[in-house]
Amino acid sequence: MSVKKIFQSSGLEGHLKKIIMRGLVVFALLCCPSVPAFGQSAEQGNLGKVLVLYYSYSEDANTEKVAGIIQGLTNAELVKVEPETPFPEMEYRRFTRWAKEQQQQGAYPPIRDLKVDMAAYDFIFVGTPVWWGLPSLPITTLLRQTDFGGKPLAAFSTAKGGPGTAVSDIGKQAKNALVRSGANFNNVVSDRQISEKVGAWVKSLQR
Ligand SMILES: Cc1cc2nc3c(=O)[nH]c(=O)nc-3n(C[C@H](O)[C@H](O)[C@H](O)COP(=O)(O)O)c2cc1C
Repeated sequence: MSVKKIFQSSGLEGHLKKIIMRGLVVFALLCCPSVPAFGQSAEQGNLGKVLVLYYSYSEDANTEKVAGIIQGLTNAELVKVEPETPFPEMEYRRFTRWAKEQQQQGAYPPIRDLKVDMAAYDFIFVGTPVWWGLPSLPITTLLRQTDFGGKPLAAFSTAKGGPGTAVSDIGKQAKNALVRSGANFNNVVSDRQISEKVGAWVKSLQR
């Protein structure tokens, strides 16, 4: 009888295979810290524990959609920034004019308590719709009252086509943040490649 057959008949071959496989897994975990733990995606592994703070106003919820894509890629926690008192109900165009007046007057609305502990996160995204080329009112309030605790922060905005300076404004106004490169996404609702675009941006942040 050959040695191989002795192994096979005694069940030793399967046993040896198991030992070798286990050894390889232990080796990979010990030697390659970048290998993500079970149930954790490579993206998560790179950015750590991710928080997405965002505001969204329109019925299309474009900014919320982008926030959701980021959540899918990074297993982030999503927290919507909301004005303490809901904005007055009015027709969309009238609302845009009203929002412009508020911006010009520097009338930034108080926002609801976010109930988040920034210190618990490794990476923070801040997302806003573009309002007259600027971050929306609730996000401006957020920036004015938040210390980001030295965490990496990446801003994103959604717009109809005129992104203005919203992303760079967030970067400039975010207190105590390690600002990473931001991104604007136009016409989210009708963009079939939006998931790929957001994915490519998130990937660029993982390097
Ligand atoms: C008050 C207001 C101002 C806006 N200003 C701009 C603008 O300057 N440039 C632009 O491209 N879109 C502008 N828009 C369109 C929104 O930025 C765009 O539809 C965005 O994706 C909406 O995001 P949301 O669905 O998350 O609210 C404005 C919308 C509102 C309500």
